[in-house]
Amino acid sequence: MAALRDGQLVILPTETVYGLAADAGDPRAVAAVYAAKGRPAFNPLIAHVADVEAARRIAVFDGRAERLAAAFWPGPLTLVLPVADEAAVCDLARAGLDTVAVRAPAHPVAHALLEAFGGPLVAPSANRSGRPSPTTLADALEETGAAAAAALDGGPCAIGLESTVVALLDAPRLLRPGAVTRGQIEALIGPLSEAEADAKRSPGRMARHYAPNLPLRLNAEEPRADEVWLGFGRKGGAGFNLSPDGDLTEAAANLFAYLRAADRADGAAGIAVAPIPDTGLGEAINDRLRRAAGYVG
Ligand code: TXA
Ligand code: MG
Repeated sequence: MAALRDGQLVILPTETVYGLAADAGDPRAVAAVYAAKGRPAFNPLIAHVADVEAARRIAVFDGRAERLAAAFWPGPLTLVLPVADEAAVCDLARAGLDTVAVRAPAHPVAHALLEAFGGPLVAPSANRSGRPSPTTLADALEETGAAAAAALDGGPCAIGLESTVVALLDAPRLLRPGAVTRGQIEALIGPLSEAEADAKRSPGRMARHYAPNLPLRLNAEEPRADEVWLGFGRKGGAGFNLSPDGDLTEAAANLFAYLRAADRADGAAGIAVAPIPDTGLGEAINDRLRRAAGYVG
């Protein structure tokens, strides 16, 4: 808390993944976040707030934003909205855009810190840029612990994938699938357009992302002799299984930790991943897997 007021960085648990938090209004603190992650400064950060009232102080809400916030906050949903006048989110945090990404996390530790701090905190996932997001304190410390003045332990992240990101600027767009699914959002605000190719509006959609060191082979029927296996459902065998019961929620929670573990396997030349159904939360899991494999442009 004092560390945050002082412009220092704090590792923070959320229900999605661990974040590297700093005062969103302090350009020096925000610059330190970009540096710690090795993140390009054209890729803006999410401003985290305690509740919708705090969100309205930094972003301009329309009816669609109000409906989604009422349904899914606090929780794993980020809204990209026009930035409000006098918002306590510095230009660098927004990468100079006239929009701001805002989310109210549900994790009690994150919520308590945001209430106590009073203002918005940037908190990108606490990994080095391009690497899998950390879902345990130990993984967060390994990635960016050296840059943090303090670290809060919230246990393993219940969801394990980053928040769903929806832009509500003109037509609503799904910029990043997540635990709040496309179907849940469309039920409230109508059809979602695809994220535009325009890199300025979707700066986070870079090709290789969430990536382990070993190459990934997706939709594999079985591992080759030199591959580590990442199974799903009854496709068992040696190696790891994201969910022996074929449960997508369990698979999401295990994904990044198992990618890290598979990466550490002795003598492996690659990771082979079983097919994951593309329904519900499967859309977000497959999005992360394709990016980890470098398939998405
Ligand atoms: O679950 C999460 O969202 C985690 C936890 C820690 O809250 N945070 C997280 O932050 O994933 P980060 O910085 O790793 O991802 C933020 C995503 C990026 O893809 C970024 O490009 C996008 O949100 N984003 C942020 N501001 C934006 C804006 N103004 N317009 C479009 N995309 C934006
Ligand atoms: Mg990230």
